[in-house]
Amino acid sequence: MTGVDSPEPARSTELVERAEAAAQQAYAPYSNYHVGAVVRTTDGKEFVGVNVENAAYPLTQCAEKTAIGAAAAAGYRPGDIEVVAISASPCGGCRQWLYEWRVPRVEYRRADGTIGTASSEELLPDTWELPG
Ligand code: THU
Repeated sequence: MTGVDSPEPARSTELVERAEAAAQQAYAPYSNYHVGAVVRTTDGKEFVGVNVENAAYPLTQCAEKTAIGAAAAAGYRPGDIEVVAISASPCGGCRQWLYEWRVPRVEYRRADGTIGTASSEELLPDTWELPG
């Protein structure tokens, strides 16, 4: 649903809804919390990711990392991503990934149902970077 008074542009809703559809493919038997992500590159390619859990819980892979990893495997590099849409607010670790990949626009569904949009820099202020 969008209209002239919508606080979010239609494209945010559309891409986040596609991330939510992708979340149906999540492998999350332990948390049962399904997350999906869609990466769109600056040249218009798209990569989908889901969270992939593991019985050794800390080895779990977040949806954003799966999607960015798919883009990396196809040859894309930091600066090549136009937008990442996520079915949930990105966790702290994924914010570090989004920062490294210099994602200018992140769109995500908040727990209250609203859609957030921010740059990766806004999502992770005072960011740590490898010295040198
Ligand atoms: N999860 C993600 O996939 N992305 C996030 O940014 C937040 C957390 C997943 C990891 C785990 O499979 C489940 O959500 C519950 O923590």
